[in-house]
Amino acid sequence: MFWNDVYLAKSPSERSWTQAWPLDVEVIESLVPDHDAAIIDVGAGASELLAALIARGYTNLTALDISAVALDEARRRVGPHAPVAWIVGDVTTFEAEDSFALWRDRATFHFLVTSEQQRRYLNVIRRAIRRDGYLLLATFAPDGPSTCSGLPVQRWSTEEMVAFVGDDFRLEREQPRTHVTPWGVEQSFNSWVFRRNL
Ligand SMILES: C[S@@+](CC[C@H](N)C(=O)[O-])C[C@H]1O[C@@H](n2cnc3c(N)ncnc32)[C@H](O)[C@@H]1O
Repeated sequence: MFWNDVYLAKSPSERSWTQAWPLDVEVIESLVPDHDAAIIDVGAGASELLAALIARGYTNLTALDISAVALDEARRRVGPHAPVAWIVGDVTTFEAEDSFALWRDRATFHFLVTSEQQRRYLNVIRRAIRRDGYLLLATFAPDGPSTCSGLPVQRWSTEEMVAFVGDDFRLEREQPRTHVTPWGVEQSFNSWVFRRNL
């Protein structure tokens, strides 16, 4: 499987998306101060985000990724008793059992490049994010890379993303970000906070 092979072949310092510190921790805590709220990290990979949220006291976390290898790496970091539900699966067919207060996706949605995949993703988030809940999304910006790990990605402007998520969500915050890869290359991201309408 493609993503398992990527995680097996590359150490964290060889993965372009590795962050020294998961910047979304502060964003999440500002949006959802209730540490018992249900939060999901989609395409969670092996990032430090879950460990950082656990360290802040969050107790109801879910990690979804298509790669079991990536989630194993993340699980080893936080230990077997961490308050995380680990789900190996494809986000476009994900059937949420919970209604999430916050859905976080950094650099996963942009791998969905067909309108059919994107339509399915939208259906999934409409079911999975509770009313008044948050969608915290980051993709490559229009001046960002056109591929990642050899796969094509779709780059999104704010106007395009607002039109895509539609009337169910309203834009609360937009934040262009420059990510610096572990080997020093700058990548242009867009990051948005959307809120599901009541
Ligand atoms: C560029 S990495 C980002 C990982 C993590 N969000 C981070 O910021 O470190 C993309 C992640 O999306 C996962 N992924 C790719 N396609 C997916 C899909 N259809 N469903 C779920 N996860 C997927 C990959 O396994 C990988 O962990």
